[in-house]
Parts: sequence; structure tokens; C-alpha cells
Amino acid sequence: MENTYKIKGGKKLKGEIVLAGAKNVSTKVMIASLLADSKSVLENIPRIGDVEITKEICEALGAKCQWLDKNVLEIDPTTINNFKVPLEYSGKNRTPILFFGPLIHRFQKAEVPFLGGCTIGERPVDFHLNAYEQMGAKIECLEGAYRVEAKGLKGTIIRLPYPSVGATENIIMGAVLAEGTTVIENAAIEPEIEDLALFLQSMGAIIYQDVNRTWIIKGVKKLKGSYYRIINDRIEAASFASLALANGGDILVKGIDQRYILTFLNWVRKVGGDFELRKDGIRFYTTNNLHSAIVETDVHPGFMTDWQQPFSIVLTQANGVSIIHETVYENRFGYVEALNKMGANIQLTTHCLGSKPCRFTNRDYYHSAIITGPTKLHGTKLEVPDLRAGFAYLMAALIAQGESEITNIDKVERGYENIKERLLNLGAEIS
Ligand code: EPU
Repeated sequence: MENTYKIKGGKKLKGEIVLAGAKNVSTKVMIASLLADSKSVLENIPRIGDVEITKEICEALGAKCQWLDKNVLEIDPTTINNFKVPLEYSGKNRTPILFFGPLIHRFQKAEVPFLGGCTIGERPVDFHLNAYEQMGAKIECLEGAYRVEAKGLKGTIIRLPYPSVGATENIIMGAVLAEGTTVIENAAIEPEIEDLALFLQSMGAIIYQDVNRTWIIKGVKKLKGSYYRIINDRIEAASFASLALANGGDILVKGIDQRYILTFLNWVRKVGGDFELRKDGIRFYTTNNLHSAIVETDVHPGFMTDWQQPFSIVLTQANGVSIIHETVYENRFGYVEALNKMGANIQLTTHCLGSKPCRFTNRDYYHSAIITGPTKLHGTKLEVPDLRAGFAYLMAALIAQGESEITNIDKVERGYENIKERLLNLGAEIS
């Protein structure tokens, strides 16, 4: 059966795993390469569903994309001849809206379909639309798509209501070729955005990172294609580290950069796990029983919202009562019901169980979780609701007694390269 894994749980996983390139950089640099007037060569691009969708969109616009090697993608934007991202890409992932910049600079207009991606909250795009209007674009909603028109984007000061990753990236990609200077205040500063900025800088863009979550972009007349190797995936890193802790295994995660998971590593120690820096990676293991912890997700440099789901499985195996306060997305605990059916003890509440300022206070969103552990999990049938929840389900199935069947596995493969083979290499029993 395609799109389904059968997993026999309970086996301790041991060995090495090599990180793939960062999913949340790969699609962005692909789109940014369309801002240039010559070819770019992008290295370390993971072969995942999201990259494939973005490549198809680039090709539908007329760009030529070619894999030069397994993870090396060449993009030639000089043949772009279409300003409309086809409607069939509506609902597939979050990237279509990021085509605003490249298309407006080329055609003074763009049409992009409404977005999809993981169902983890309302995920509006008001910050993107307001920012482009501030830069001088006119936006209308057609059936199923946004139409944006601008004779030329103009630099301005944009203050984001919340440090949104996508909105920051979208504004940067509009600003690099805009007239004048754009300042983005209260911007996101995730390492993935820095990586995008570094690629754009290599293409000829002028981008400063300033204090207090500020990006300053001085528009230039044109950008040229470049060679760029993107960073490795810090969400994968935390996912595999969590797997080692929850499973009582011992996993060397290769290609990890300690500085990108500084925050996560503190939580490894807080729950009683341990890590060892090696020349080529970080080894994660446990020597004692795990103990409970309080986790609050946040924008960078906080505990990433995308680490939350794998880490929740760790907490189901920890002694005592743990708390997760999710402050980035209002609806990112949809996956816990299935975990409870497997034997976990997770209670959700609308209360803010934490001390960080949170936009969801008194809004009736179930955004805090109380996890009591340790609990034995047993195998069951699971349907993957979204990417990170899907990885959490894989973890749960791998530590559970008995067999689990996980369907909708393409949602996991959308973000984790070759996941089955890599887990098999650690000794997992998956068919
Ligand atoms: N938001 C708005 N209005 C906007 C934009 C965002 O209210 O116009 C809100 C969102 O609803 C959310 C918060 O701001 O509550 C943060 O959203 P953000 O824009 O930062 O998220 P994103 O850019 O859509 C990226 C990653 C996510 C990751 C978040 C946060 C990509 C393709 N996606 O999403 O990754 O969780 O940043 O770090 O880069 C994943 O990889 O599984 C994933 C969901």
C-alpha cells in the first residue's frame, strides 16, 4: 500500500542519521532565484514534496529547473513568461504568495492562488497583503487567487504586528529590487531568513540586519544568479534528537550546527537527556529516566513551534507533569487525541499555561497541553494530519508496543527527505 507505513514499535534505535538541507529555506531560495537575470545553482536542496511543488510552480511560470546532482538544483529564470501561478497550486503549500516579489518586478503584476499548507491554525496572510500595499501595490481578490499590481514597488517602513517568518521573507523579496530603502520592524529573524538574506546578498542585494528585530533593505536595480549552499534543517535535527530521547536510543545526528539548536539543547538537558558534540555532529542519548519540563514555543530564538510535536512524545515518556504552551499557532495540538488513544495522557486547555505574552489569551483556543507521564503507548491506526504531527506519530509508533499503521504518509514525506530509509538505517521496523 503506497502512502502507508506499517511500524512495529518498541525497538531501541541506534546509529547515525545525516541531516538534509532546510525545508524552510529550500523553497524560499528557489523563489528568490527568480529575482535574478541569470541562472543560480542551489546546493543541499532536499528531495521533498514541498520542493517538488515549488519547482513545478517555477516551471509553470516558464523558468527552467534542472537537477544537476541529487541535491543540486539549477534554476534559469531568464525564460519566465507567465505572471500567474496556476490555480491548481491553491491549497498545496505556503509558497505561492512568496512569488509576489519576483513576478511584480518582472511583469508589474502577479496572480497567486490562495494558500494551503498544514492545518495548524487560521494562517491568514494579512501581513503580506498589507505590506505589499504599503510598498505601493494594488491588491484584489479574484476567485481563488490574489491579483497584485504595482508599477514599481517603493521602499517604506513596515512594522509587522507579529514577527511572521513568511511575511518577513515576502517583504524582503519585494524590497531587494524596490526603489529606495525598506525597513521591516518587529520582523522575524529565524536562521532560515538569514540564509535567504545571505543568498540574496550573494546575488547583489543590499541587506542589513539591525538591532531589535529590524531588517533594512536598500533596493538595487538588478540581481544576478549565484551559487549558494543552504543550511541544514534544524527541525529535522530536533526531530531525530527527540526520537533518540523518547525511544531510549542513541543517535548521532550528522551535519547539525549547534548554534541553530542552542535553545533545543537546553531542553534536552532539562528533561534529563544528554548530548555529546562530535566532530561531524551531535550524539543524543539518555542515561537516566526522563523527567518532566515546561515548554513554551516562541519565535526565534525561542523554542520553535515545529519542535513542539516531536518533543511532546518525549514528554509522554517523562516522569511527572509537563506543560507545553504554544504561542505561535492557535491550533497546533490537533494530533494529541490520537496519542491519547495510544495510551498517552495529554489534556488540552484554553488557558495560557506559561509566562510568555501570548496572542491567544482569552480566545478559546486549545493552545496549552498538560502531559502526564510516563505512559506506555500501544500500536494503532493513525492518519497523519500535518507534517510535524506526522513525525510525532512516527515517533509514537516507533516506541509503542505492537504494530501501527500510519496513513497519509505523503504529508511527512513533504518535509522529511527519504524518511523511511533513514529510520530503517537506525534499526526501525517499517514496511
Ligand atoms: N500570521 C498572521 N498573518 C500573516 C502571517 C502570519 O496572523 O499574514 C500569523 C500566523 O497565523 C501564525 C504566526 O503569524 O500564528 C506565525 O506565522 P508565520 O508567518 O511565521 O509562519 P509561516 O511563514 O506561514 C513558517 C514555516 C512554518 C513554521 C513557521 C513559524 C515555512 C514554509 N513554514 O510558516 O513551518 O512553523 O514559519 O516558524 O517556512 C513546518 O515546517 O512544518 C511549518 C509549519
